[in-house]
Amino acid sequence: MHEKDPTGKIRIVKIKDGTVIDHIRAGHALDVLRILGITGKEGNIVTLAMNISSSKIERKDIVKIEDRILKAEELDRIALVAPEATINLIENYEVVQKNRVELPNIITDVIQCTNMRCITNKEREPIQAKYEVVSKHPTQLKCKYCWTLINEDDIIAQFCS
Ligand code: CTP
Ligand code: ZN
Repeated sequence: MHEKDPTGKIRIVKIKDGTVIDHIRAGHALDVLRILGITGKEGNIVTLAMNISSSKIERKDIVKIEDRILKAEELDRIALVAPEATINLIENYEVVQKNRVELPNIITDVIQCTNMRCITNKEREPIQAKYEVVSKHPTQLKCKYCWTLINEDDIIAQFCS
């Protein structure tokens, strides 16, 4: 369905080809772009809507990236900031695939360990950060090196600066 405004007018247009990240928690569309490393300099047309009303969740954000198919590891990252998101693959205006994002069991990089003394935060010879996902709902990660627990708020805070 198109996202409509209260008068029934279509608010954001459908795309021809690309990826629609739908049902992003309201207010977190920019976090999704950040975690994907999308700056706008890539050249793809990106449409973003925030605080759209939805029947499933009260308000949601949507990100539409034209002419781009996201890799599996990119989809995994989205789960860190928008665990309820659905990923729609669009081909010739049709939704040809719809998937929920899901956290993998192990996450490498992307997140910074909240323990500043952790070996993964050393300025010289830093070790690649690695986390075990100990809970998916709500998200909780455990640093493989120092066992520090990292929760959803810690993760979101890293993408809102
Ligand atoms: N969409 C789009 N361009 C298209 C087709 C769909 O931008 N050519 C968007 C829709 O606006 C919607 C999402 O992709 O945000 C999913 O489309 P669709 O499955 O048709 O909508 P719903 O049935 O409402 O999806 P769901 O059941 O996941 O809520
Ligand atoms: Zn650590």
